Amino acid sequence: MEDNNVNRSKPYAYEIEGGVPLRGDIDISGSKNAALGIIAASVMVDGPCTLENVPDISDVKVMFDLCRSLGAIVDEIDTHTFRIDPTTINTYKASGPLVSKIRASYYLMGALLARCGKASIRLPGGCDFGQRPIDLHLKAFQLMGAKGARPSEINSGIVNLTAEPLHGAKIYLDIVSVGATINAMLAACKAEGRTEIINAAKEPHIVDVANFLNSMGAHIKGAGTDIIKITGVPFLPGNFTYSIIPDQIEAGTYMIAAAVTKGDVTIHNLIPTHMEPLSAKMREMGYQIEEGDESIRVYLNDPSDEIYSTSVKTSPYPGFPTDLQPQTVVLLCSAEGQSRMHENVWQNRFQYVPELAKMGANINVYERIAWVNGITRFMGATVEATDLRAGAALVCAALAADGTSYINHANRIDRGYEHIVQKLTSLGAKIKRVNIEEYSEEDTEA
Ligand code: EPZ
Repeated sequence: MEDNNVNRSKPYAYEIEGGVPLRGDIDISGSKNAALGIIAASVMVDGPCTLENVPDISDVKVMFDLCRSLGAIVDEIDTHTFRIDPTTINTYKASGPLVSKIRASYYLMGALLARCGKASIRLPGGCDFGQRPIDLHLKAFQLMGAKGARPSEINSGIVNLTAEPLHGAKIYLDIVSVGATINAMLAACKAEGRTEIINAAKEPHIVDVANFLNSMGAHIKGAGTDIIKITGVPFLPGNFTYSIIPDQIEAGTYMIAAAVTKGDVTIHNLIPTHMEPLSAKMREMGYQIEEGDESIRVYLNDPSDEIYSTSVKTSPYPGFPTDLQPQTVVLLCSAEGQSRMHENVWQNRFQYVPELAKMGANINVYERIAWVNGITRFMGATVEATDLRAGAALVCAALAADGTSYINHANRIDRGYEHIVQKLTSLGAKIKRVNIEEYSEEDTEA
């Protein structure tokens, strides 16, 4: 167990005494974003299913609570294994405060439309990266025959969708969207006829949600390519056990933590091809990246080796993941000279830069580009985790820093990183949770 003497219902920070090179081996947990999609998808199955490799993180707990609030029975078999029985679901409405706690609650729109032919869902909250519209999700539902999907029909923040029945459609997504791809896929699984999602997102968790649905009885082809084809079925029998893929972003965060502390860490239970965008950049910067079948070792031949500056642009998979952008900026801070980070997915995902500046970072942001000037060392400071990945980036910087840092709003980091304190401690880091004074911000997430 982590931090027995910290009350996590009260505000807490991570206290990190930096400067220790991380060394050793760690295991990556199940993917947060795959788990959130798959748990939501379990709502539309017609029999129970068992999920393995479920990450023990607070966002997943909220998604399970949302399923329970609909009437599903969720049994914890062990920390990472859950049995979900959706046959007891007795409502198509999810409009309480749980919905705004996680962004991924929007998957209940597609799942409940598929199960009940109706969905009444509050608009989701989310990390503040600028605008986060769901117009593409709604457009997809509308093309499949759902009523209530026009923006003007959203009433007091509640989306009321009806479709009796849903039919297959050709759906072209103007922008590559993870959420819209998954939501359209969910609704299409039980729609009459055939659906094509064109310009679909290709992230590993899209493929995982599709594999889960296929194992429950759905007919989805092409997940992981630009065009996903779904033939609707009236019934998804379920009664299957499915294991969730490893978390690409957690793995990348530990690769960066190992690198920025000039350590030597082997990260197990990951899929090396998912890590290629990051591995390629890290090799370019001078890090040694050794791939095994399901592991990656990160180290420097000599801690005094030069770290080269580079240029990174985020884009949908297989491009460089936006969810590793803040952590990568921390890595770029340790390179010689000036690097460039272009955020191409979210309108405003550099809110953590002023926090990093408190630790000595020298970064200039101009619109969607951050110019990162290399520094010799980070300095310990008290900083705010402005969102999940921003918080992870601050952890990386604090691990490498001279002195002690306090990262406030650490609960935001715990939403997406299983047992992070325990894992980092096992690598030699000096990190613990500590309760701090009250603050009163509302919290919504990824
Ligand atoms: C998912 O968010 C992830 N969240 C995010 O991870 C991740 O940053 C993002 O995909 C991109 O990879 C979950 O899986 C729960 P999008 P999502 O729809 O689906 C625009 C993390 O840290 N867009 O792919 O909400 C949008 O504004 C989180 O784990 C529209 O214009 O992202 C953005 O610019 C944070 N209209 C772009 O598309 C829409 O209807 C990509 O967004 C939908 C999206």
